[in-house]
This record gives sequence, structure tokens and C-alpha cells, in this order.
Amino acid sequence: MTRSEIAALTEHYSGLSERWQVNDRQTDYASLVKPTGNSQEPFHRWFKFKEAFSHALFDRLIKDGGWRPEKHFTLFDPFAGSGTSLLSALELAQSQGVSARLVGVERNPVMHLIAYAKLRAAAEPKRVGAALEYELEDFWSRYRSNRRKPRALVTPSVTLNNPRYYDAEHVRSLLALTRAARGCSDDVVRDVLLTCVAAAVEPSGLLRKDGRALRFSPNRSAVHPVMAFQGTLGIVQEDLSTSDGFEGHVQLAHGDARLASPMHESLWADWVVFSPPYPNNIDYTEVYKTESWALEVYASEDDMRLQRLSTLRSHPSVLFPEEYHYPRSASADQVAALIAPILRCIPADRYAKGRTQLIRGYADDMFRVLQQARRQVRNGGHAAVIVGNSAHGEGDQRFVVAADLVIAGLAEQAEWMVEEVCVARMLRRRTDDDGWMRESVIVLRAA
Ligand SMILES: C[S@@+](CC[C@H](N)C(=O)[O-])C[C@H]1O[C@@H](n2cnc3c(N)ncnc32)[C@H](O)[C@@H]1O
Repeated sequence: MTRSEIAALTEHYSGLSERWQVNDRQTDYASLVKPTGNSQEPFHRWFKFKEAFSHALFDRLIKDGGWRPEKHFTLFDPFAGSGTSLLSALELAQSQGVSARLVGVERNPVMHLIAYAKLRAAAEPKRVGAALEYELEDFWSRYRSNRRKPRALVTPSVTLNNPRYYDAEHVRSLLALTRAARGCSDDVVRDVLLTCVAAAVEPSGLLRKDGRALRFSPNRSAVHPVMAFQGTLGIVQEDLSTSDGFEGHVQLAHGDARLASPMHESLWADWVVFSPPYPNNIDYTEVYKTESWALEVYASEDDMRLQRLSTLRSHPSVLFPEEYHYPRSASADQVAALIAPILRCIPADRYAKGRTQLIRGYADDMFRVLQQARRQVRNGGHAAVIVGNSAHGEGDQRFVVAADLVIAGLAEQAEWMVEEVCVARMLRRRTDDDGWMRESVIVLRAA
């Protein structure tokens, strides 16, 4: 890579920026692309998901889009994560007295479980609240009985079995809670209790989520899992007892945003709102592996590897198959032209292969996601894609992958109209990296 390749990349990005309206909307959006306020909001606060956007983002998007909910609306989020957008839409439907169909997809089994538990509980809080109270006594008696058989409380997880990270007594307690929850007869109550276990995993050990990784934090103290569990359970009971139900329908598939699902055949969504993984090396399978092992969603390391392989190609933690779909599409040349200047900036070092795969794989995956989303939205409907740009390489080899501009370009190839690239937040000072390090909301219309 030479300086001229970096200069060519800057020119490429500047050219793309001229194609669309790129507006500075930091005043309105900077706090909304982060999980601002989620830890105080009913239902949202059941599990801390650092990569979520704010519960208030959906409201802002529909106000700015001039969109008014009719008697009935449909929202689709193909990267549901902790369920923020769907939950916010459910609250909007409740407050406006309209009915809603909320449809989502999520690939990570633990995030899927948590989001679906929150959504189904929020949809019928009174029934779930009563069922929870009914099941609790049996739940605790199963927990005590599990605790009396400590030799059965084992996990294949190398991380949970590392005594530096987790006290063995805490691991046994987490597994006993999980198995007690799995014995519930009501499947929403079961998943609500498993959500409380998931929320107890980080506080009961010495690993903290820190951006891309789990970091060993020996100076912090770990609380007993039952205490942490009961803390979340109290919040859950409060939220269930103080909320009203909602009219509508919630579906959340444990699936892949790149693929069509029979569930979506007649979707015709009014809005598609999503935040895909950013091309910044965060591997969600890795960051949420302790919760996954504690909830016993993997039986072996192999299961976890398969989970990694099924995620979006936004990280190089695993060698993904070299499969690219866009060369088979009519837009092949345009898609290739969008990423060629980025590929030319990759330094010829030991990371070159991984970085090339990441950029090509990410563009290919996002192209498929945008094509699927376009098929599922009605004509005249809208999409909002929340994404962050990321820097790769060091020193004068450093270059920025402007995911917002690449996604806007891919969206056009997938037959969306780009209404606006709204810059929500600068991730560094404006002068660094020529101002490309930012998080944006890309607003699209199905023309
Ligand atoms: C940025 S997070 C979404 C956060 C979400 N908007 C919220 O507020 O909670 C991206 C999510 O995409 C999920 N994901 C990764 N690959 C996926 C795929 N192929 N299909 C669907 N979801 C996927 C990750 O597990 C992660 O939960």
C-alpha cells in the first residue's frame, strides 16, 4: 500500500459522499446510536447489551421520517440483538392504541432467547407475571435439588472452568439455575428466568465485556449468581406488574439475516430498522460465550465454532468459506467497484488474507441482507441502517472502512433509494482519518 492508494480511497469516499445527502445530525442522533437510557427502561433493562442502540431511536426515526403509524403497522429487524427496535415499536403501538406486527431475526442463540423472552413478556405482561409467580416455588425447589448433586453440575467450557475467572461454586450455581429454569412448563417463563441467569453471568465472575473482548478484571469482586439473579428477577416482576399488554403479533426467528425465511413470505413491512455487526472485528459469539455456556446452548466447542461460522463476515475469528454471491448478480461490477479502492489499501502483512476476506465477505453479506430486506418491505416503505465505520492497520498503513458509504452503495444495487446518510456520531476528532471515523444512520426508501 502507498500514500497514493490512501489518497485514492479518500477520493473514492468523497465521490460517494457527493452522490447522496450526507448530513451532520449529531445533535439529534449522537446519544441514540448508543444504548442511552436502556438500563432504566422497563423490559429493555433486563439484560445489558452494550452493542444496542437506544430505546428512544425508533421514535426519533419515525418522527424525522414524517411517518405516522396507521391502525396497523409492520416492523422488521433482521439483526434483532437484544430486541431494542421491536420492543420500542411495541411500546409505540401501546401508547398510540394501534396494532403492530413485529418481526425479527437473530443469529446468536442467547441474544435470540433474551430478545424473544422480553418481547413475549412485554406483549402479555399480566399472563406472564401470573405464570411466573405460579412457577417460582417449583423453580427454587428444582434449584435446591440440583445443588445437592454437585458432580452433575459440570460444563465443557474452558472459560467457565478457569478458576481465575470463575469460582467453581459460582459456576455450579449458574448451571443449577439454568437447569431449574429449563424445567418450567411455560416456555415464556422459562426464557424469562434464563434471561435472569444470563444477566447474572458477568457480575458473578471476573471477566468484563470490553469492546471486542472479555477482559480479566481481578480487582473487581464477583457477586454470588443467586444474588445477581434475584436482582434481575425483582426488576422483571416490577415491569410485568406495571405494564399493560399490547395488540399485535411478535415473531422472532433464530435465523440468518442473509437468507429468506418462510415466515417472511407475506411480510410487506412498513419499516425495516436494523444495526448489523460493524466490520470492526467484534465477534459476538466470542463476546457472549460465557452466557452461552452458562445457559448450556452449546454442548461442545464444535457447536460454538459452527455458531461463529454462521454469523455475518464482520470479523476474522474464523476462516469463513470463500463464497461470494454478488458476482452472480447483475450489479457485480458496481459492487466490485465499491470495494476495490478499499482492498487496494490493505497492507501486505500477515493480516492481509484475513482483512481481504473481511472486506469482501462483509460487502457480499450486506448486499444479500439488503436484497432480502428490499423483498420484505412494501413499496414506499422505509429502512434505517445504523452502522459504524472502522479503522484497520497501524501508523501510515492505517485506513478506514467507511461501512456507511459502502452500505449506501450496496443498497442502491439492491434497488433501494438512498434518502440520506445521517452522520450520528464522530468516533474520533473530525480531523483524524479525514473525518471518516463515524457512526451513521442510512435512511433508505423502497421506491
Ligand atoms: C449491532 S448488534 C444488534 C443490536 C440491536 N440493534 C439492539 O439494539 O440490541 C448485531 C447483531 O447481529 C447478530 N448477527 C450476526 N450475524 C447475524 C446473521 N447472519 N443474521 C442475523 N443476526 C446476526 C449478532 O448476534 C448481534 O446480536
